[in-house]
Amino acid sequence: MDQYINIALPKGRLGDQVYDMFEKAGYPCPELKEPNRKLIFENEEAKVRYFWVKPSDVTVYVERGAADIGVAGKDILLEYVPDVYELLDIKVGKCRMCVAAPEGFSYDGIRTLRVATKFTRIARDFYAKKDRDIDIIHLNGSIEIAPILGLSDVIVDIVETGTTLRENHLSVVEEIVPITARLIANKSGYMFKQQKISELKDALAQVVR
Ligand code: PRP
Repeated sequence: MDQYINIALPKGRLGDQVYDMFEKAGYPCPELKEPNRKLIFENEEAKVRYFWVKPSDVTVYVERGAADIGVAGKDILLEYVPDVYELLDIKVGKCRMCVAAPEGFSYDGIRTLRVATKFTRIARDFYAKKDRDIDIIHLNGSIEIAPILGLSDVIVDIVETGTTLRENHLSVVEEIVPITARLIANKSGYMFKQQKISELKDALAQVVR
């Protein structure tokens, strides 16, 4: 039986940080840090297999069992609501999901608010709780441009350092939810490999602390 733990890591800066935590937790795979274009790495001794995947795809691999566990931002979990276990807040990739608007923006409360975002479910849920009608404009990136060009009134997007907002003369109107990266697990994989996954989770929790 394959007792490897298959781990989907988000490619990019967050993934590098997350891998370092796995390494400290006792699950190294040094080849992963070599400059190459490989996407799958194994450590036979530690019985782990890492895959680099696009951050927003981690939940797809984990939900469908192609990976047993993975690391995904809370933003992705709130937006796509994948059927996975959320095991641990690993407290990196800290940012905030916010409503932002051009500096000096004021809303008359009468017109339907036009909201540009990549995160349509998060935006819809947020305004539904306020009982406010909105017009969602789905974009795939560079969201900050939308209110500048008059495509939307506000945006719902991730704010990390605040630089992108500042440099585009936008500011935070409301914070929706703080975001961090989470360790997630496939539901049936967790049953089959519970002991190994729990050990890994506990070791990672020590590193987080
Ligand atoms: C994200 C987000 C903001 C920016 C926030 O964009 O959508 O644009 O980072 O970071 P800051 O507060 O540190 O400036 P990303 O780089 O993921 O690109 P995107 O435009 O494709 O969303």
